[in-house]
This record gives sequence, C-alpha cells and structure tokens, in this order.
Amino acid sequence: MDKILVTGGLGFIGSHTVVELQNEGYEVVIIDDLSNSSESVLDGIISITGKTPIFEKLDLKDKAGVEAFFKNHNDIKGVIHFAASKAVGESVKEPLLYYENNISTLVYILKELQKLPSAGFIFSSSCTVYGQADELPITENATVKQAESPYGNTKQIGEEIISDTCKVTPNLKAIALRYFNPVGSHETAKIGELPIGVPQNLVPFITQTAIGIRQELSIFGDDYPTPDGTCIRDYIHVVDLAKAHVVALNRLLQNKNKSNYETFNLGTGTGSSVLEVVQAFEKVSGEKLNYKIVGRREGDIISAYANTTKANEELGWKTELNLEDAMRSAWKWEQVVRKKG
Ligand code: UD1
Repeated sequence: MDKILVTGGLGFIGSHTVVELQNEGYEVVIIDDLSNSSESVLDGIISITGKTPIFEKLDLKDKAGVEAFFKNHNDIKGVIHFAASKAVGESVKEPLLYYENNISTLVYILKELQKLPSAGFIFSSSCTVYGQADELPITENATVKQAESPYGNTKQIGEEIISDTCKVTPNLKAIALRYFNPVGSHETAKIGELPIGVPQNLVPFITQTAIGIRQELSIFGDDYPTPDGTCIRDYIHVVDLAKAHVVALNRLLQNKNKSNYETFNLGTGTGSSVLEVVQAFEKVSGEKLNYKIVGRREGDIISAYANTTKANEELGWKTELNLEDAMRSAWKWEQVVRKKG
C-alpha cells in the first residue's frame, strides 16, 4: 500500500487522520516536532488501529533535515501537511514566527515533492480565508478577504504558493481543504485535542470548565445580529474531517482530480450559535455549565458556515456525525485526560 507522509501527525487533526489512513491500509510516516503535541499520542493511534506508524521527530524548518528525510523515503506517494502554528493572537504578536513556521516549511516540502515522479499533496487551510463572507452558506467561490491576522495570512499565502507551484509542476497534484471549526475526538477517547495552557477555542474551554479546571466560560458577546445574539460557526466532528482527508488523498492518487490544484470546504453545512453549543454540551453530558456573557472578542466574525455541495458531490464525502456526537466525544476525552492527570 502507498506510503503517506503526515506532518504534524501527532496533533489534534493529524492524529485522527493517521488513524483513518491506517484503517484504510495506507502506510503512514509521521513527522512532528512535538512543539504542540506529545509522543504518547502514538500509543493512542497504535491502540486504535493495531498498527504502528513510522515516527520521525523533525522540525520542518530544518531544510537539510527535510531533504534527508525525502532521500530516505523516496517512495512517498502523498503528503498531508498539518504541521503549522495556529494561535491567532500569538500570530499577531509574533508574525515572523508564523511566517517562518507556516511558510518556510511549506516551501521546503514542496521543493522535495517537485523532485518526485508524482505526488499528491493535501494542505490544511481554513475558512478563515473568507473572513466575514458576504453570502452564507459559504461556497469555495466566495471572495478571499484580506486576512485579519498573520495566522490567517499564512493560510492564504500557503494556498497561493501551492497553486503557483502546481502550475509549473505537472507531476504535483494538490488539494487545499478549508476547515470550518473542528471539534470532538475519537469515540474510543484514546486520542483527542490537547490544548497547552488556557484554551482559546470554545469546545475545549467548555469541557475544561465542566471538569473544574476553569471557573466559567466567557461567552464573547450576545449582541450580534443572530437569532440568539451569539456568534455562529460550523462545528465539524474531527473524525468526519479526518475521513475527508483520506477521500481527498484517494482522489489525487487515483487521478480523479479535475485540475491539479483544487479547494474544498469541509464543514457540516449547519451553523450553530455559541449558546447552542453550550446547550448541546449540557444535554449530552448532563452537566450544568457555568458561563457568563462578556464583551465581544476582537476579530470575531459574526457568522460562518459552509456550503458543502462541492465536497459532497465532487469528493463524494459527507459528514456522518453531528454536534451532539462531537460534544459527547469531547466530554468523554476530557474525563479520560483528567483521570490520567
Ligand atoms: C478561531 C480563529 C480562527 C482559527 C480557528 C482555529 C479567531 C478570531 N479565529 O476560530 O482563525 O482558524 O480558531 O481553531 O481566533 N467563544 C466564546 N468563548 C470562548 C471561546 C470562544 O464565546 O472562551 C466563541 C467565539 O467568540 C466564537 C466561537 O466561540 O464565536 C468559536 O470560537 P473559536 O473556537 O475560538 O473558533 P473561531 O473563532 O471560529
């Protein structure tokens, strides 16, 4: 079976994708620098799949290291590139860190892929490229708006770099997947999201509050022009998201792509407000969540949810899990993590 490189394969979305790739029979090689993950994630992957991926600890900013890696693994058929920094606030404070981590590394990998007889490349992009879209649900043709943060900019620039490279590299085929809000964890609770420090994202903040690590959730604004006044997002179960990567990779390796650079939105198509997420959590967990309404968070958009037609029809992929499934699995994972300490 084909050998696939997964960069950032011990991270949240990466680890779930490694599981789905191994379940599908792919041979997986993981590169991770462990800057925002832990080697123990491998145990979870092995326990779920019964297969041990190859793991190499490598910082992709080490250009010589990347070259050496591809020399050793010249039979790689595809790369799923998750490794990147992703904290919006941090990117505003340290833009060069983000440009170096997210852009240089992408360039080094693409340079190696140009040398291969053929390669498929899947890029982790984000719905953040659309900003506050003029029309909802958001299609792939929506305008890419001026990025709000260096993090968002690295996703836009990353897409452009890949598109430009594909134009001059017939042996390279790529898909950029624009994720909406990935949440939840594997149903076994053997892998999941492990935010370092205070979580910035809604769902880990909810589960950490319910388990008692945080005192209360602050809901950032209830005066938005939405039905209940809180912001609306499209929360997609990470297992559905992981499966989409396998489908996208199959498309490239089986030459089913329509052009050698494509983009797809990955969301559920349903928008949920912050209060609806809290209610879904309370329903599936039976816990009452402490929360208060506070002022708006700078940079938040009002509403974003995906038009999933292109992904459904072209990729032949659709979500199978809903928000309650995601909250149930996130809660189960939180309980397991805290028991382990
Ligand atoms: C955020 C990033 C986005 C990035 C994504 C990656 C910002 C502005 N956007 O998306 O660029 O791609 O994470 O995961 O940082 N909320 C609360 N209280 C909290 C946390 C969140 O009310 O403690 C609300 C937010 O206002 C928002 C919703 O929950 O309406 C989701 O927030 P979050 O999980 O941070 O995701 P995004 O803001 O959509």
